[in-house]
Amino acid sequence: MNFKSTTVIAVTNQKGGVGKTTTALHLSTALSLRGFKVLAIDLDPHGNLSQGLGFSIDQVTSGIQHLIRDRAVTWGQSINELHGIHLVTANPELASVSKWIASTTNGELRLRQRISEIRGVYDYIVIDTCPGLGALLNTVLNAADHLLIPVDTGIYGYMGVKELLHEVEEIKLGTNPTLSIIGFVLTLADRTVVSRQTFQALKDQYGALVFESQIRRSVALKEASLIGQPVFTLDPESTASWDYQKLTHELIARLESAKTNHIIGETHA
Ligand SMILES: Nc1ncnc2c1ncn2[C@@H]1O[C@H](COP(=O)(O)OP(=O)(O)OP(=O)(O)O)[C@@H](O)[C@H]1O
Ligand SMILES: [Mg+2]
Repeated sequence: MNFKSTTVIAVTNQKGGVGKTTTALHLSTALSLRGFKVLAIDLDPHGNLSQGLGFSIDQVTSGIQHLIRDRAVTWGQSINELHGIHLVTANPELASVSKWIASTTNGELRLRQRISEIRGVYDYIVIDTCPGLGALLNTVLNAADHLLIPVDTGIYGYMGVKELLHEVEEIKLGTNPTLSIIGFVLTLADRTVVSRQTFQALKDQYGALVFESQIRRSVALKEASLIGQPVFTLDPESTASWDYQKLTHELIARLESAKTNHIIGETHA
């Protein structure tokens, strides 16, 4: 087997409705279109990522909840192939896993342990997360190499990020010291003053961590999520298709540069 250097990216923000799932779905499929081998993991009990890729969550027989809870469940029996990527689904049973994680020794490290079994198989593993803070979020923060944080326009999205960053710092001081934020991306952007101000506030606060690519409001994305297809196939000429391609390009460049800097850092250590 061709051994790959796997990068695990979690798309996260504790605020609901900011475009996490839409971003995880289009990042996964855009990476696949560029020839990378991609696994997308749905880590939201609502199963929106699975549904957005056309998978009916009533059909879930082995999802991420089973992989986390039961070491005997294999990745092989949990993987579905859709739109050029591999997908591990979720359904409402995942909500009960949250309690299991909190009451089990090292429960918050289980996803990371399970992912370590398939490091080397994929170029990218992209995890979609549910809103809110808690055991599921901590599980993700322990499992990821990088966080991609979508922020929607408006003051609340911007302010909410601070709580997430506090959690990130705690995890870095403890169980995942190399966790990094690969960037913030403005979503649901439009031509309003509020949209411009949110972007500027993000830049002022987080500087170069803010992606220049913005995801504009697009009807095509709404339609795509209803139909269960990425915009790249449903409406390849849409602004959404262009925006997500651009973000993916910028993200890959940033990851490459982070790797190089890391290698340089190690060389000089
Ligand atoms: N750029 C966009 N333009 C138009 N609609 C969008 C855009 N991004 C996301 N949406 C729509 O907004 C809604 C919320 O998006 P999404 O589900 O990706 O957010 P989320 O952060 O994953 O939400 P949750 O926290 O509930 O999981 C969905 O109906 C989605 O289709
Ligand atoms: Mg979602």
